[in-house]
Formats: sequence, C-alpha cells, structure tokens
Amino acid sequence: MKEKSILTVDDLVVSFHMYKGLFRKERLEVVHSLSLDVNRGEIVAVVGSSGSGKSLLAHAIMGLLPDNAAVSGRICYDGKELTQKTRKALLGKKMTFIPQSVDYLDPVMKVGKQVIGVYSTKERQEELFEKYKLPKETEEMYPFQLSGGMARRVLVSSAVTEMPQLLIADEPTPGLGIEMAMDTLKHFREIADQGAGCF
Ligand SMILES: Nc1ncnc2c1ncn2[C@@H]1O[C@H](COP(=O)(O)OP(=O)(O)OP(=O)(O)O)[C@@H](O)[C@H]1O
Ligand SMILES: [Mg+2]
Repeated sequence: MKEKSILTVDDLVVSFHMYKGLFRKERLEVVHSLSLDVNRGEIVAVVGSSGSGKSLLAHAIMGLLPDNAAVSGRICYDGKELTQKTRKALLGKKMTFIPQSVDYLDPVMKVGKQVIGVYSTKERQEELFEKYKLPKETEEMYPFQLSGGMARRVLVSSAVTEMPQLLIADEPTPGLGIEMAMDTLKHFREIADQGAGCF
C-alpha cells in the first residue's frame, strides 16, 4: 500500500567513517539496507537492542546525522523524497520529533517558550502542560531546573503542539512512570487516528 504511506524508507544504509590510528580510515556500517513504510493512521514501532541503530534511523529521517555519517537509500515523505530543503518546510509542523535525549532542549530558553516555538500559541502550550501534568510554574523554568521526567514531558509537548502528519518518537517514555507513559501512547493513538503516521 505504498501510495498511502506518509513515510517510506527504502534501502537505507548508514555508515560512519572513522580513523583508526593516525592514517587508517575505516567504514563502519550501522544500519544495513533497511526498508519500512508508515501509513496514515498507523503507529509503527522499531524494536532492537541497544546500539542496533534505532536512533540513527530516526536521525536519518530527521536529517540530524553527524557530518561523519554516510547515508544512502531513499527516505520519502508523502511520496516525495526528503532532502534538507524539503525537510525544512515540514519540520516542526507536519513532521515532528521526540528525541531520545532531553539534551535536545535549548538550555538557555525557558521551556514554555520552547514549546510554543515558531508555530504554536500560549493557549496550546498551557493546554499541553496541563495534559502532561506539568505545573504552571514550569513554563518559566530552564531545562536544567527540570527533573528527567518533566524534561521528557516538555519534549513530548513540543512535538504535539500542531497536529503533525508524521511523528517520529525515539524512546519517548523512559522516566515517565507507567501511567504517564500509557497516557502518552494513548495521545499518539489519537494523533494517528486523526490521519498521521507515528513511528
Ligand atoms: N557519531 C557516531 N560515530 C560512530 N558511530 C556511531 C555514531 N553514532 C552512533 N554510532 C554507532 O551506531 C550504532 C547505533 O547507534 P544508535 O544510537 O542508533 O543505537 P540505538 O539502537 O538507538 O541504541 P539505544 O537503544 O541504546 O538508544 C552504535 O553502535 C553506535 O556506537
Ligand atoms: Mg537510541
């Protein structure tokens, strides 16, 4: 059902070039010819042991791989190949990302503002903080003032301010507690039910 796919990954290979000693350059392949489809309304989970390349897959889709990474294969959003240029128009609005590490929060910006970002509103941010049980005063805090679980809830909030068409979540629930983790997954289901793909 390729035509319905919001995300198509076709034959993705990610490798790193690394120096061994001073002069020997080695190629280390970490994602091997991976293909997958995510359709609208669908939640696709990628399971794998630590170090198997889940985060790299997410980063390849988001265009966040480091400079020493080499990527081949095709990544398409809604049938069109994703390039840095086409990605730019989608990021933050149609295509959002919950990174694995809370270090992706801007350390020098209050978290309320970060969640509002470029596209959202104060009302929506307040609504999401309430949904994710973040006390009102959290808005005025900087990331270093938050607990790990609070920081994660801020990250989740910032990915769902607009109704994304494609939500990429890289281990979004650690540190949330079982109830909040279930609520978060339920929220992803609601987002998928409105026609988005979650992965
Ligand atoms: N910048 C890099 N340079 C070289 N190797 C890297 C780099 N980033 C990641 N790797 C390697 O790629 C492999 C996959 O890493 P990745 O972070 O995608 O794993 P993961 O499946 O997300 O693991 P976890 O479940 O622990 O989050 C690992 O072996 C890691 O050492
Ligand atoms: Mg990871």
